[in-house]
Amino acid sequence: MRLTSVFLGVLAISQQVFGAADICNSTNCLIEENCRCSSITSPLALEDTPQLIVLAFVDAAKPELYQSRWSPLIEPRKNPDGDFASATFYVPHEYSDYQIVHDLASIGFEIGVHSVTNDPHQDYWRDGAQPLLEQEFGDQRKIISKFANIPEKYITGTLTPQLQLAGDNSINAFVARGFSYDNSWPSRNRLFPYTLDYATTQICDVGANCPQESHPGFWINPIVDLTSEDGDLCATLAACFNTRSNQTSQEISDWLVKQVETVKIKNRAPLTLIIEEKLFSSVNESWTGLTDALDRIQEDKTVFLVSQSRVIQWLKNPVPVSEFKTDAVSITTGCVKDTCSLKKLTGETRYMVSCVPCPKNYPWLGNPEGV
Ligand SMILES: *[C@@H]1O[C@H](CO)[C@@H](O)[C@H](O)[C@H]1NC(C)=O
Ligand SMILES: *[C@@H]1O[C@H](CO)[C@@H](O)[C@H](O)[C@H]1NC(C)=O
Ligand SMILES: *[C@@H]1O[C@H](CO)[C@@H](O)[C@H](O)[C@H]1NC(C)=O
Repeated sequence: MRLTSVFLGVLAISQQVFGAADICNSTNCLIEENCRCSSITSPLALEDTPQLIVLAFVDAAKPELYQSRWSPLIEPRKNPDGDFASATFYVPHEYSDYQIVHDLASIGFEIGVHSVTNDPHQDYWRDGAQPLLEQEFGDQRKIISKFANIPEKYITGTLTPQLQLAGDNSINAFVARGFSYDNSWPSRNRLFPYTLDYATTQICDVGANCPQESHPGFWINPIVDLTSEDGDLCATLAACFNTRSNQTSQEISDWLVKQVETVKIKNRAPLTLIIEEKLFSSVNESWTGLTDALDRIQEDKTVFLVSQSRVIQWLKNPVPVSEFKTDAVSITTGCVKDTCSLKKLTGETRYMVSCVPCPKNYPWLGNPEGV
């Protein structure tokens, strides 16, 4: 793959002729072999299917955000099995406090990767070459592992900035750096997570760069689109609100409850709710509305707030809702806090809270250990 990227034109043609994945069916793709076809059908009858919801966070782990928003929103919540709810934090590097990242992992939240640079340009991600993407995601996996003291085997998922994949380049980079799932692809249909062994039925939105080749055993956890009050499809909560930011908390809560209700009635596909800091800063009543909506959604005992990797685990072993367990994973490796003042290559200073002694340089692309 890496060699052929030199011959871009040739590659593009050969992809269509040879590289495209075959059609998936129930005989060539078995869950026992870590393969699942893309599908809107639950592995269980509707009434036995738990409604799994993943709250996904993508901002740098900063103390004030953690204390004022994340912690009060999620930490008190319990699931119907009596265990504390889980969620997934896709951590970008810059400005993240790795003691907070460690603490989140130690109380049962999943840590995933959102990149090193969190570059704000869409084409940077959509047109990214595999070596760059390996550094963006693979190096961030190493940075989190080292400075938040979380073994790499617990860091298995990605969610890309701007929800931009660079087609097969991204998946090749994720596989090369040891990831097992991606959570960046918005879906117009209510798909359950699936593997990329065979051709997907997931729609590729205009302007998006979607994978087309076979990547055996690599999971796509689609972001099932929500519908904003204006009737537009939206993949993050902030995007669902950007045309009307003056709603009351009651309106926000009613809207979200209705979104979940619709999926619960149709097929109970797992939902990813992406909760960005900008939602709270741009929509006045969003935090209160979201808190109220989650309270109401959780009154239904078929709803579980879980990590994204727990969703995949359930698809591999689809127990009915009556037997479902949250099974959150808690890290017990410990954190000895060190506050580091480090220089970026640009000369700027960054403070970085670490769980291990400070490195010499600010960790970055190509130098995740900060040597
Ligand atoms: C499934 O696909 C394989 C080729 O990948 C084909 O040989 C087989 O006949 C198909 N089975 C069904 C039930 O369509
Ligand atoms: C948000 O709330 C503040 C204070 O209550 C108010 O002044 C502002 O107009 C509100 N913004 C919107 C978009 O409703
Ligand atoms: C909210 O904003 C919309 C569009 O800007 C406006 O039409 C509506 O009157 C506003 N509602 C309130 C309660 O301010």
